[in-house]
Amino acid sequence: MVAYRILITNKIPDIAAKLLRDKGYNVLIPEDERSVGREQLEREITQIDGLIPLLSDPIDRPLLEKAKRLKVIANYAVGYNNIDIEYARQKGIIVTNTPDILTNATADLAFALLLSTAKRIVEADRFVREGKFTGWGPLLMLGADVTGKTLGIIGAGRIGQAVGRRAAGFEMNVLYTSRSPKADFEEAAKAKYVDLNTLLAKSDFISIHCPLTAETRHLINRQNISKIKRGAYLINTARGPVIEETALIEALKNGHLAGAGLDVYEFEPRITADLLTMDNVILLPHIGSATYDTRSKMAELAAKNIISVLETGKALTPVN
Ligand code: NAP
Ligand code: GLV
Ligand code: GLV
Repeated sequence: MVAYRILITNKIPDIAAKLLRDKGYNVLIPEDERSVGREQLEREITQIDGLIPLLSDPIDRPLLEKAKRLKVIANYAVGYNNIDIEYARQKGIIVTNTPDILTNATADLAFALLLSTAKRIVEADRFVREGKFTGWGPLLMLGADVTGKTLGIIGAGRIGQAVGRRAAGFEMNVLYTSRSPKADFEEAAKAKYVDLNTLLAKSDFISIHCPLTAETRHLINRQNISKIKRGAYLINTARGPVIEETALIEALKNGHLAGAGLDVYEFEPRITADLLTMDNVILLPHIGSATYDTRSKMAELAAKNIISVLETGKALTPVN
């Protein structure tokens, strides 16, 4: 029997290649941190049985049309908006993601952004490094309280709910909007299910946790930003295009929004230049799941999904 051929488009924790090689599979993985790139992906897609792409690799229809024996795509991410799921399904290719294991790491980051925007942590650090700290000041670097304030969660799934539970520990009032209400979450975080307009109008902090879909693209557009309470903070650790970035920048400039904490960008990895000049914005390089343990678990799960599909025809965590 010919060994299965698996392509991992980037260097990821070693456990993935190890598990696959232990099965006798032929594993292709770059030696350094450069991606294999579209050209090689287009060449390889014709001969591989399994693929582990990153969220930054578009696995679109033109690419998938070239696949001849591909049976499983194990995305190295929980979000899978980079993959044409419907076309993969039509071709009988199983797509998997990495749910649950990255929930806490990502929720920690969202809450870190919330606290950091409120307390101006990054700006204050820059201030000290620039030698500007001359002593305690009654009016120095004043920010916003968190305790007792209202957090609005858009998309109360795994990560959104984990952020809500953290907020409950900070005695925040938690509002959320999702496609359906979540009884367990309401109990755990004393959270209240509201419509989007109510959430926008009542929240002091808004944190986005829905997936990027046709429905959520530009959900936070100019019109909806105008419905946000004046002086609120916006946190985004979901996907950049959920926010219309030009409208966000406008609202930050005119003071309608007090600040923003962003881990993701509309035109990622390009950052709209205006954002780089704003002190009330914290900009992170898409590091929600970036902990040693979590990234290692993601690599393990992606490899186990590949093995499970190739050996049994069934995935551990399928999305289609
Ligand atoms: P999840 O459990 O599927 O949660 C997503 C939630 O969004 C679901 O509760 C869903 O509601 C809700 N939703 C879907 N469409 C909506 C809409 N139109 N309006 C409002 N809510 C909507 O996914 P997760 O594991 O929490 O991950 C969420 C997203 O976070 C991922 O898709 C990914 O893009 C992003 N992410 C980013 C990082 C990072 O590094 N920054 C790390 C991990 C994940 P229902 O439950 O009611 O259907
Ligand atoms: C990261 O953004 C993920 O979707 O896992
Ligand atoms: C601040 O350092 C205080 O003691 O209030």
